Amino acid sequence: MARPRIAWLPGDGIGGEVLQATRLVLDESGFEANYIPGDIGWEFWKKEGTPLPNRTIELLRRTDCALLGAVTSKPTVDAMRELSDGFRAKGARYSSAVLRIRRMFDLYTCKRPCRAYPGNPGNLREGINITIFRENTEGLYTGAEWDKIPQELYNIRGMERVPRQAAITIRAITRKASLRIAKAAFSHAADLPRRGGAPNEAAGKDAKKRRVTAVHKANVMRATDGVFLSAARDVAKEYPNVEYEEMLVDACAMQLVRDPLRFDMIVTTNMFGDILSDLGAQLVGGMGFAPSANVGDGYAMFEPSHGSAPDIAGKGIANPVAMILSAVMMLEWLGKKDTAEKIERAVAEVILEGMVRTPDMGGNMGTMAMATAIAAKLKQPSPSSP
Ligand code: IPM
Ligand code: MG
Repeated sequence: MARPRIAWLPGDGIGGEVLQATRLVLDESGFEANYIPGDIGWEFWKKEGTPLPNRTIELLRRTDCALLGAVTSKPTVDAMRELSDGFRAKGARYSSAVLRIRRMFDLYTCKRPCRAYPGNPGNLREGINITIFRENTEGLYTGAEWDKIPQELYNIRGMERVPRQAAITIRAITRKASLRIAKAAFSHAADLPRRGGAPNEAAGKDAKKRRVTAVHKANVMRATDGVFLSAARDVAKEYPNVEYEEMLVDACAMQLVRDPLRFDMIVTTNMFGDILSDLGAQLVGGMGFAPSANVGDGYAMFEPSHGSAPDIAGKGIANPVAMILSAVMMLEWLGKKDTAEKIERAVAEVILEGMVRTPDMGGNMGTMAMATAIAAKLKQPSPSSP
């Protein structure tokens, strides 16, 4: 197979640092690719009036997938303040680069594993292994927003409930997007061995079915989450070997902390997935352990769930594990399963040994020290190989 072409997008803050650390690990693993750097992030907003220049969109079009470090995104007032004068005069409006890429390339599945690697001092409990499937293209993220309600909207029945002076955001949920995110969650669950170890067919009587929890707020947002739930139920019927349940988002937040081991796969809408994935990250050591994959039918982008962390940027102390695990998800997506497993095993070994810990883990080692330790594990023959 030809070398994959990978858009290499450091972005802002710690993005470049964790990406550089990841490159060390990828190179050591023997994986070969053409990495093509691209411009993205806050610097380009300030200088060029867009955080996602057209040349970067072109780069994405001619690559197989993208690896993104992190980008800064700030509320509109701050964005306008920092924009150079010329662009302010031209009426430039800020919109998040990551959100534009997710929508433009229809990267509808956001897959966010929350896995407690044994020995990680930040684990709330050992054994947590939850994968969140977050719808990635619609919901409260459509960008249809008004600071003042357009007069025309007042002619619609129901609008009398909305105060005149309100700013509004539209929450859009389609059956199509709900079906495809539910399918992503269920097909992932169906491909996994039963919980308890044994593979599906040969499952011992103790092995449990995989479970998908659909998370919603259909008791309040009846229309939008009604569509979401009805799609999830229809998909559930196609997977009789996967257990299906539903949970309100507030109850889910509580249960995730109270009894995280009861969860397996979670499927939810865009904003709930955003919030619950940060909560899930904290169950397993924090944002330094939270990778993510944005996957569509023809393209994918892999990025840690964390932001650009300006408070620690440039200090070389960011935990690169979330970025390295995002690269592991990229390797799986590219079909390089063995290399992906090898790197994940190396990460797990370094965490278990506890010799190299970044400040978020209570240690005082840096980004490159962590990457170097992981890369060193790749050099040793794995205990399971003959
Ligand atoms: C995430 C981030 C983004 C989101 C922000 C930076 C727009 O929080 O990837 O979880 O809300 O999706
Ligand atoms: Mg988020």
